[in-house]
Amino acid sequence: MAKDSSKKHWLTRQQKDPYVKQAQLSHYRSRAVYKLIEIDDRDHLFQQGQSVIDLGAAPGSWSQYVSEKIGYHGRLIAIDILPMDPIVNTLFIKGDFTEQPVVEECLQAMNHGKADLVISDMSPNLSGIRATDQARSLHLAELSFDLAKSVLKQGGDMLVKLFEGEGTDIYRHDLKEHFRKIIVRKPKASRDDSREFYVLARAFRL
Ligand SMILES: C[S@@+](CC[C@H](N)C(=O)[O-])C[C@H]1O[C@@H](n2cnc3c(N)ncnc32)[C@H](O)[C@@H]1O
Repeated sequence: MAKDSSKKHWLTRQQKDPYVKQAQLSHYRSRAVYKLIEIDDRDHLFQQGQSVIDLGAAPGSWSQYVSEKIGYHGRLIAIDILPMDPIVNTLFIKGDFTEQPVVEECLQAMNHGKADLVISDMSPNLSGIRATDQARSLHLAELSFDLAKSVLKQGGDMLVKLFEGEGTDIYRHDLKEHFRKIIVRKPKASRDDSREFYVLARAFRL
């Protein structure tokens, strides 16, 4: 019964959501793209020819957008546990980013090259227990930071999703040691009742 009512609530919210409608009318696979577009409009993240790693990429709207922005001379590596339909000019790695062989596969795919950007929209499977979900999300953000430290070019950027809660201040503080500027963004397309927000760490220092 409770499950039915929460499913109904989800459906009603989806039907009313302008970003869901917008995504359905566009070629983008998810409303999530509007979060990235809003951040990009403001912070100008992407340019033709860049090398980008997209963590937690499925179903693929961020990768669709990035692939368009970086063009044929760009290079995009997308990773997710879930399968993802192909995207132009994108190498997809299906696997769990918390597992070292998946990280190794990503590094190999980079072929010792460096990335301009690491972006992560990874969300753990939500348990509904706030502290647990928040800790899992922070762990994913820490792993994204580890990857960024090993692949980013001098001056590169990282955009990562976090859930408000314990440890996020320390995380942002740690980023300051490696990036010149740390910016927090909560795009309009990110639901008000969601504790998610994005940290944009700019100008990586090797
Ligand atoms: C909010 S969705 C990403 C949506 C995506 N940015 C888009 O625009 O389509 C979060 C994704 O993170 C992925 N994810 C969560 N934990 C992961 C992990 N350990 N390794 C790889 N992907 C993971 C989930 O499978 C899910 O597809």
